Amino acid sequence: MKALVLAGGAGTRLRPLSHSTPKQLVPVAGRPVLFHALDELRAIGVREAGVIISEGRPGEQIRAAAGDGSRFGLDITYLPQDAPRGLAHCVIIAREFLADDDFVMYLGDNIFAGGLGEPLAAFRSGAPAAQLVVTKVADPSAYGIAELDAEGRVTALQEKPAVPRSDLAVTGAYFFTPRIHEAVRGILPSARGELEITDAIQWLVTRGHPVRADRFSGYWADTGTLADVLTCNKVLLDDLAGAVRGVVDRASELTGQVVVEQGAEVIGSVIDGPVIIGAGSVIEDSRVGPFTSIGSGCRLRGAGVENSILLDQASVHGVRTIQGSIIGKAGDVRRQEDGSTMHRLLVGDDSRIDVPA
Ligand code: DAU
Repeated sequence: MKALVLAGGAGTRLRPLSHSTPKQLVPVAGRPVLFHALDELRAIGVREAGVIISEGRPGEQIRAAAGDGSRFGLDITYLPQDAPRGLAHCVIIAREFLADDDFVMYLGDNIFAGGLGEPLAAFRSGAPAAQLVVTKVADPSAYGIAELDAEGRVTALQEKPAVPRSDLAVTGAYFFTPRIHEAVRGILPSARGELEITDAIQWLVTRGHPVRADRFSGYWADTGTLADVLTCNKVLLDDLAGAVRGVVDRASELTGQVVVEQGAEVIGSVIDGPVIIGAGSVIEDSRVGPFTSIGSGCRLRGAGVENSILLDQASVHGVRTIQGSIIGKAGDVRRQEDGSTMHRLLVGDDSRIDVPA
């Protein structure tokens, strides 16, 4: 089976990180969200993946990161999209790549821990036109939602409804037969100007084509906001298996599951797992964890960092109270050495800083 992975879009809700990093490359548990997705697809037997990327720099960054896919056991074909015209538009531009095969469409900012083997098996055995993966959510109006009958048949769908008729969100893994190609050409753009996959699936339902849905039994996350990214990081780190490939000195103490990557150094520090310390990072006289991912080439001295994500080359000096934070690439947080008690800030576009009362 082929996969169509959607890694275009604007990523406005992930600013400021998405100003420089496409949202699918934001790291959770030490790896870009997209890499978790590609692993998951390979695990269910996919070999060929079409990856939708936006034109220009974000798309090029994705191409450079995932390459030809061989690292994931996949053969990747990149499919540039001129503008984020909607999920169903992605199916239209992938028509030639998909040919007349069944395929799984996977949203590149979604994470499914626990695997997609069950919905794939249901798709194969039930042979519907589309098989959806749904899960109960507290805020259905933030998602596409599905109404099901007692047998798991989808009877109606709505995209981000103001007044939801169901609390079952449609997650970002859809199994389709080629019937979907007719549907995506049969719909019009929604009020927000996008060709919605939800409308295309409703098109199938309205015309009597069987659409089924199974509830997802594992952990699912749409890493749409920075809060979602931190929660997802925490959940995935819970399953971390520790491994020390770098150097930890005798004055340091490691507890729980800790990964210290090659070339990283831990000096006189306490690391309370689960924690990942990326390649070439140096942690000195600091306390890190739990639930913290440090990227590569980071520098921490006299730092305290908990439940946080630091992107590559970030640094923290002399600040011991960092919690629930994301520090972007080469971001620098430091204590002033001149005795000043004021905050001196250089804050990038769309950033947010919470200071104690
Ligand atoms: O995460 C599940 C939800 O995903 C579903 O419940 C909704 O029905 C579905 O519309 C979608 O909603 P989002 O608002 O979360 O979609 P988003 O714009 O974040 O796009 C999802 C992925 O697809 C993301 O990796 C960006 C990519 N994308 C998006 C658009 C609109 C593209 O590659 N091209 C596009 O034109």
